[in-house]
Amino acid sequence: MARSLSLKRSAIIAAHYRLQESIAVITLDNPPVNGLGFDTRVEAAAGIDRALADTSVTALVLTGGSKLFSAGADIREFNTPKATAEPTLHTLIRVIEASTKPVIAAINGACVGGGLELALACHFRVASATASVALPEVKLGLLPGAGGTQRLPRAIGVEAALNMIVSGASVPASQLAQTVLFDEVVTGDALDAAIAFARKIVAEKLPLKRIRDLRIDYPNAEGFFAFARNTVATVAKNFPAPLKCVDAVAAAVSKPFDEGLRYERGLFLQLVQTPESRALRHAFFAERAASKIPDVSDDTPTRGVRSVAVIGAGTMGSGIAMSFLSAALPVTLLEMSQGALDHGVATIRRNYEASVARKKLAPEKWDAAMALLTPTLRYDDLAKADLIIEAVFEEMDIKQQVFRELDRVTKPSAILATNTSTLDVDRIADATTRPQDVVGMHFFSPANVMKLLEVVRGAKTGKDVLKTVMDVAKTIRKTAVVAGVCDGFIGNRMIEHYLRQAMFLLEEGASPPQVDRALEKFGMAMGPFRMSDAAGNDVGWRIRKRRYVEKPQMRYSRVADRLCEQGRFGQKTDAGWYRYESGRRDAIPDPAVDALIAAYRREISVTPRKIADDEIVDRLILALVNEGARILEEGIALRASDLDLVYLTGYGFPLYRGGPMFYADTLGLYNVVRRMKELAAIPNADADFWQPAPLLAKLAAEGRMFNG
Ligand SMILES: NC(=O)c1ccc[n+]([C@@H]2O[C@H](COP(=O)([O-])OP(=O)(O)OC[C@H]3O[C@@H](n4cnc5c(N)ncnc54)[C@H](O)[C@@H]3O)[C@@H](O)[C@H]2O)c1
Repeated sequence: MARSLSLKRSAIIAAHYRLQESIAVITLDNPPVNGLGFDTRVEAAAGIDRALADTSVTALVLTGGSKLFSAGADIREFNTPKATAEPTLHTLIRVIEASTKPVIAAINGACVGGGLELALACHFRVASATASVALPEVKLGLLPGAGGTQRLPRAIGVEAALNMIVSGASVPASQLAQTVLFDEVVTGDALDAAIAFARKIVAEKLPLKRIRDLRIDYPNAEGFFAFARNTVATVAKNFPAPLKCVDAVAAAVSKPFDEGLRYERGLFLQLVQTPESRALRHAFFAERAASKIPDVSDDTPTRGVRSVAVIGAGTMGSGIAMSFLSAALPVTLLEMSQGALDHGVATIRRNYEASVARKKLAPEKWDAAMALLTPTLRYDDLAKADLIIEAVFEEMDIKQQVFRELDRVTKPSAILATNTSTLDVDRIADATTRPQDVVGMHFFSPANVMKLLEVVRGAKTGKDVLKTVMDVAKTIRKTAVVAGVCDGFIGNRMIEHYLRQAMFLLEEGASPPQVDRALEKFGMAMGPFRMSDAAGNDVGWRIRKRRYVEKPQMRYSRVADRLCEQGRFGQKTDAGWYRYESGRRDAIPDPAVDALIAAYRREISVTPRKIADDEIVDRLILALVNEGARILEEGIALRASDLDLVYLTGYGFPLYRGGPMFYADTLGLYNVVRRMKELAAIPNADADFWQPAPLLAKLAAEGRMFNG
């Protein structure tokens, strides 16, 4: 039977048992984070049974070793039978709580989620001052489902517990030293202290303490929870879990313990099923999956990156330089002229200064970052750099010339990266004698802020280069997603079709504010027209002009060209799809734009119609989905979740919808295809575009999903 097969125990020991005189020490051992997987639970429960059966044992110490206690559930077992197999965490907790001999948790390092719930079931807890506790389930759209919402308020008080559970934040043990949670917080190793503590309580015959037996005395409960619900509802917006956390903690006050536990369980089971929790869990796993490249194993040797050079100190170059400086890596910044160089350095200084003013950065960190920056006008100064990132003008000739120069001056082990948005990375690589060293690193603007980094793998990019760049991305705290070479890579290739639909909608009768409102109501951080105004309408104009030549069969509305012909490039010219008051970013609807659109409709003889918000959202989002399917099919992206991650981290797609491909899965691909057929039949529709991509059609026909 599949179930018994998958439940086969691994040969590796997941918890150790040893006796230290009359104290049994059970050490969880499930690297890397002592996840409470099936084997660990089985062996921990067996250890407890063994200690209880051994008459020479007087007390038990449960620990995770010197580094950390436990990070909670073993996420590798999510969605497998092992996750729910007995002994479950609930069972283990019951076994510990019911033990007739004292069980003491010895907590070093992180004690998180199910790990903390386990510790809360022990009779006593001893922690090192550097340990920390957290119940982060809310971050996955859940709540602690193994008694955490009932025991923590009894241990540290209702308000402190609610804060921890609703925020998921980690709290140092030292901060909770005076609460019932910790019997001792020690400066050294918690295990030695816990063993000494065990001896003491045995000698003193102290009674067992069970947190479940504590009564919560909280006279203002009703007023407090009403206030908490209001505050949490404003912050939680589209996420249901934080409010359920409040309900669960409220139950800890109003209900007897066992009833509270059942109530918590019920809420947990409700939350697991919500689309928001599914989306958050999807995003969590997408992030982990993105760093895995099937043909580049984890042990691929990497090239060390200890110093970086950036070519071009414009919008992108200065932000890219900051990303490395902030991660304490020295950066040499090269420009063509002293003026451009000074301008770039001034931008970097100004950005840091603003962070210091907003108290986001300590002044000494600013000094440290600036001290790592070496501006230069000489290519020879790049000889020692391990990684060079080019961010010059978007012109193939210029880029090739820069790469020829880099080929000449940089050391043989250096990685040569380009930040191009649209040019062919392979052609750039071919300008060098070492295309294996060339890779795309496509940052997003502002590069010092945006999390997303598309790593573009050229036809000849070395595996060691790819692995090194993926590791570097972690160092500078970016979310890296691998893309193959194509125009626009993943994100911009998809957005082009989203924007094409936005323009068609204007032709047919919608206005920029209506389209933006519909998409913002859907959850996008910014509607397409506000986004274009922020990025600069001239960027899209340049790309379209190229498309008219390269792909004359592809339909584009010319309405955006009309806008650009008037010099309305967006925020930077105080006029675009909206108008802007000088120095401000508020988009103000502009009758001049309505007139321009109306004139264009007359020019192409289209009678405007009233367009529903649903149609607007479906057309834009399904345009992303259909192009996403093509990208997957061509192997430009490795997996559907990578596309979702690109949109969540780079394009303001709502997290609670999990990304465009995940959203399509939640609609059901069969329904997506049906809707595309309807959209193809709308007057003026680009019927060719609405042909479902073959991969989408196939998955829909087979009843499958993108993220399946
Ligand atoms: N702006 C964006 O939103 C964005 C986003 C992602 C990628 N990109 C890409 O990043 C690159 C740079 O874009 P940007 O917006 O920063 O442009 P920019 O015009 O702001 O900056 C380019 C800088 O490169 C310098 N430069 C030009 N030729 C040079 C050379 N031979 N040697 C040294 N310096 C040189 C220029 O003086 C200028 O300061 C482009 O390839 C662009 O496609 C831009």
